[in-house]
Amino acid sequence: MGDDGVVQQGLTAMTTAQRPVSLTGIKPTGAKSSIEHGAVHLGNYFGAIRPALRLTERYDTIYFVADYHALTTQRDPSTLRQNIYDVAATWLACGLDPARTLLFRQSSVPEVFELAWVLACFVATGQLERGHAFKDALAEGDAPNAGIFNYPLLMAADILLYDTQVVPVGADQKQHVEVTRDVALRINHHYGDGTLVVPDVLLTDAPLVLGDDGRKMSKSYGNTIPLFAPPKALRESVMKFKSDSAPLQAPKEPKGSSVFELYELIADQAAAAEMARKLRQGGYGWGHAKQELAAALEAQLSPLRERYLELRSDEAAIDAILATGADRARAIARRTLNRVRGAIGIG
Ligand code: TRP
Repeated sequence: MGDDGVVQQGLTAMTTAQRPVSLTGIKPTGAKSSIEHGAVHLGNYFGAIRPALRLTERYDTIYFVADYHALTTQRDPSTLRQNIYDVAATWLACGLDPARTLLFRQSSVPEVFELAWVLACFVATGQLERGHAFKDALAEGDAPNAGIFNYPLLMAADILLYDTQVVPVGADQKQHVEVTRDVALRINHHYGDGTLVVPDVLLTDAPLVLGDDGRKMSKSYGNTIPLFAPPKALRESVMKFKSDSAPLQAPKEPKGSSVFELYELIADQAAAAEMARKLRQGGYGWGHAKQELAAALEAQLSPLRERYLELRSDEAAIDAILATGADRARAIARRTLNRVRGAIGIG
């Protein structure tokens, strides 16, 4: 088939051999994003972006901006538009190589909505009623829109459209991948095993990044440090990290301290071991550790910050990258959809 030829070529150009497909969607919402600081914080970077980028060594990676998922909550057009560029520029700045990873907007591949409909016909409403987001909205007394109710279905279509084998997501998204598996298995049971590829969750060994209050770094706790904070703000945030008030001479336990744990994520092993040794030995204070942490963060993040600011200032260049990705993504999507249409009798 013509489409297959294109896809094969695309994939072999990207990689040397066929490798399993890893796919994830990046929702462009939530962050109080500004062009200066970007949309994501250190917790997102170490917990999600960096692990996902490392998967390019073992998988064919497909990472897209889930712009239509954002519409369930984001109603301000200019904010949505900004957020889309923010996240695309962020991933590119962090090292996503568009020649190796398919990067595109969900909305550029309308085939996903056709597949979502097919899937809808194979999902019991009861399963969607048990969705975390939908249940939470009801529990809070909201009248959730049907977009929130159908959210897992669109996500299932995102995943199944590209014959995805693994989905690297955090624990909060596990339920959605389970819905995806269930619906794919049901469709395969009915129409034959080759109809859809049944994906697995890949819970990345994502480290937990702690905030300045010692709790998980999270927007809901207001303890985040923006990934692209300017040097001074970055430094000040690190100096604010909570630490015990042990005297300078006292030996200190590195494990469990937000300062040391963050240092471990960015420093090489030898440097981290050295800091642990100095803390345990005494005569080395948390203030010293914070200084080293701030310097190490600045050294590692400043090239990313610069790249981000440069990329973010050229929306047309981002559009071009996303459009190239979308062409290749659509070729894969059409192939899957043709297979599904054939199977269900709407060929
Ligand atoms: N629901 C995901 C989130 O909130 C984003 C997402 C959309 C996604 N489609 C996906 C993740 C497909 C993985 C696979 O973060």
